[in-house]
Amino acid sequence: MNWISTFLKSSIGKKLLMGLTGLFLCTFLIVHLTGNLQLLKHDGGLAFNTYAVFMTTNPLIKFVSYGLYAIILFHAFWGLYLVMENKKARPVQYAAYNGNANSNWSSRWMGVLGTIILAFLILHMWNFWAQYKFGTTPYTQYERNLATGEVTFSPFTGEIAGKMEKYVDTERNVEITKVKDLYSVVADGFKAWWLVIIYVISMAALSFHLVHGFSSAFQTLGVNHKKYNALIKNIGVGVFGIIIPILFAIMPIYFLLLNH
Ligand code: HEM
Repeated sequence: MNWISTFLKSSIGKKLLMGLTGLFLCTFLIVHLTGNLQLLKHDGGLAFNTYAVFMTTNPLIKFVSYGLYAIILFHAFWGLYLVMENKKARPVQYAAYNGNANSNWSSRWMGVLGTIILAFLILHMWNFWAQYKFGTTPYTQYERNLATGEVTFSPFTGEIAGKMEKYVDTERNVEITKVKDLYSVVADGFKAWWLVIIYVISMAALSFHLVHGFSSAFQTLGVNHKKYNALIKNIGVGVFGIIIPILFAIMPIYFLLLNH
């Protein structure tokens, strides 16, 4: 297996690891965004809280989550190492940006943007992930009328086994869900305007990072054909540079407006 270690030590091998882990993180972002969009449903958080229980209790997803944490850390610290290596190799900086010829320039900016995203992630995990896992997240009881679909909810202070309990009260024809209320943690968190500003600025950094990173990953993978280059660029800019960051940014803004 000597060729593997030789390849991974080569400059293309090092970049390939960044590209592959980056593309994996892009797919995570799509899944995360799709799940989070349930925050915008007008159901008091029932769909989102049910989804959060599934994501944190399903054994396969839990397993993938540990891989995700490892890949985020690897991508961040390997990326910073490559930026430093790149800087050492070319200590005299370019006077001006000169397109693709100037890889040092983009590597440095990718490093700065990546560091902003890493700082955002630390704050973000503290805001929600840690509160859900280790904090005192409240419980809410939802009642969904099975005839009309109407949902009502109120705080629940009793005890339940685990994060969620669900059953049908046949006499009243309602489905009752008692669940750990991550929705209210998110809604309360975004009452703070300064946190919303940090999130929106971070989504701008994410946008620029993904526009460059997405096409750069395909270039490293050797995909270089007239027909595909335009498609990759359009997906990079349109989906990862515009749609995804804007939809993420809408969430904190939505809750800030809802709370005021
Ligand atoms: C701005 C809108 C966002 C909201 C409202 C949001 C919300 C949440 C919530 C509620 C959690 C904890 C529950 C869970 O584990 O699923 C979470 C976890 C997480 N978020 Fe976000 N998120 C946002 C954006 C992002 C972005 C842009 C990234 C990446 C750059 C990100 C990365 C993560 C990661 C890595 C986790 C841990 C996932 C896991 O444990 O499997 N989030 N997010």
